[in-house]
Amino acid sequence: MFQLLSFKSVDDHRGSLVALEECNEVPFEIKRVYYIYGNTKNITRGYHAHKALKQVLICLAGSVKVKVDDGREKNTYELLSPDKGLLIEGLVWREMSHFSENCVLLVLADAVFDEDDYIRDYDNFIRKVNK
Ligand code: TYD
Repeated sequence: MFQLLSFKSVDDHRGSLVALEECNEVPFEIKRVYYIYGNTKNITRGYHAHKALKQVLICLAGSVKVKVDDGREKNTYELLSPDKGLLIEGLVWREMSHFSENCVLLVLADAVFDEDDYIRDYDNFIRKVNK
């Protein structure tokens, strides 16, 4: 499942503030936070799915495109605002591309890192979706 979330931004003459709480704006308990930055020109990332992981991707600076595919439906989101988050749950293949040079992509996740939760082969992913 994937879905674009809109967060409340508190804006005034000083600028903007977004607050995210677990099990509130972020619909799970946050066990891990990581971020991707310093992106080399024209690189792509991802090319995997997770068996069970829930994640919210938030582009804090710059922009990035995220292609998501649940085996039935595909969509591409351009993340370019810190008040938007892309929720990805369970069996979803994801590919990130078009990172701007200044892009900082924050990821909130509901579990600690576990290589066994990855599916890195697309055909294997499709087989799992169709099971
Ligand atoms: P990976 O998830 O494959 O990144 P991407 O899909 O963006 O290309 O992770 C890249 C490397 O970083 C891989 O060797 C595993 C490591 N890694 C961690 O050690 N901890 C983490 O939380 C994540 C997401 C990755």
